[in-house]
Amino acid sequence: MKLIVTGGAGFIGSNFIRYILARHPRYSIRNLDKLTYSGNLYTLRDVEKNRRYTFLRGDVCDRHKVQEAMRGVDAVVHFAAESHVDRSILDSTAFVKTNVLGTQCLLDAARHAGVKRFVLVSTDEVYGSAPSGEKFTEECLLAPNSPYAASKTGADLLARAYFRTYGFPVIITRCTNNYGPYQYPEKFIPLIVTRALQGQNIPVYGDGLQVRDWIHVTDHCAGLDAALHQGRDGEIYNLGAGNEWPNLEIARRILQLVGKPDSLLTYVQDRPGHDRRYALNSDKACRELNWAPKIALNDGLKQTVDWYLSNSEWIRRVTARVYRSYYRQQYERRDSTLAKVLNRGGKK
Ligand code: NAD
Ligand code: TYD
Repeated sequence: MKLIVTGGAGFIGSNFIRYILARHPRYSIRNLDKLTYSGNLYTLRDVEKNRRYTFLRGDVCDRHKVQEAMRGVDAVVHFAAESHVDRSILDSTAFVKTNVLGTQCLLDAARHAGVKRFVLVSTDEVYGSAPSGEKFTEECLLAPNSPYAASKTGADLLARAYFRTYGFPVIITRCTNNYGPYQYPEKFIPLIVTRALQGQNIPVYGDGLQVRDWIHVTDHCAGLDAALHQGRDGEIYNLGAGNEWPNLEIARRILQLVGKPDSLLTYVQDRPGHDRRYALNSDKACRELNWAPKIALNDGLKQTVDWYLSNSEWIRRVTARVYRSYYRQQYERRDSTLAKVLNRGGKK
């Protein structure tokens, strides 16, 4: 099978490329990636010499590039996106372009090229915040609350419409919060690990009691592999792990693993429109795809912390360019106390 993976230089896409190359010895993968701030070829240095892997630099909104990329391809797994909620609150322009228009461009090109399967990597954030005690099923109303989530909902609904209107073989997966190796350190877990390692304060939004369902990226990749091969055209599959924990608890566990004190935790102004809880019912994926997450949270967190401890060169490279200025832009406005801390070099 010839696959296109979009956004393969990012966190989940790069893990997926490695996962597929290892498990499907006859598959070849073309990685189409624009290399934005969150994509880095250093992440893929161990696969770049693999003869079944090729890289094509390009924007998913670039019609000619996307048409070129589609030639001779059997299936598409579409990861490429602007992926960080906080950035979408600062400016959502790139989110609408890449996540909505880019997805439409890919769907069109894939349809015209006769692609036989198109997996859209969507998110649980399309459902909005889950009421206490409830878990979202695939039939629940979509009610995104951040510009990021709204743009992903646009992509999700476009994919659905391409199945309904053209019979184009789309599968949509909606996964919960991922963690694991190669995650850009603007997201909560790698942010905690990388800052804690340097003894820097950890910003906790609001009361820190927002709940996320954490899934190890390898379990997500296994779910995508199953959806690609066993999923039914036009269907949606929730991929959750059943690991619901408040942010504060996650932060404390990581500080313990890194051997740093809880006093690094610093409460800062909350994110506007912050979803209180994400929770998915994944019975359909378990039943139809024969999939279940396998990695226990404590094991996965330890493995992730160990990975960041042994990969300081990766951290240095991906944060070299724009990370520090982003951190200041994002966090200085949240809290004047925190701003003072940052101005003193980030140490508490
Ligand atoms: P990421 O930010 O780490 O990676 C995104 C990748 O897309 C980068 O390599 C970037 O260069 C590339 N990209 C961005 N804009 C592009 C464009 N216009 N054209 C081509 N490439 C472009 O993101 P991630 O965390 O790996 O997320 C991957 C996908 O999974 C996204 O669609 C995201 O919405 C979805 N998802 C993520 C999570 C999570 O917890 N991280 C959970 C559920 C779903
Ligand atoms: P994040 O990793 O941005 O994922 P998402 O917003 O897509 O769930 O954030 C996970 C949770 O951690 C979310 O409730 C926001 C919170 N958070 C903080 O408390 N501090 C931070 O510095 C960041 C980045 C996130």
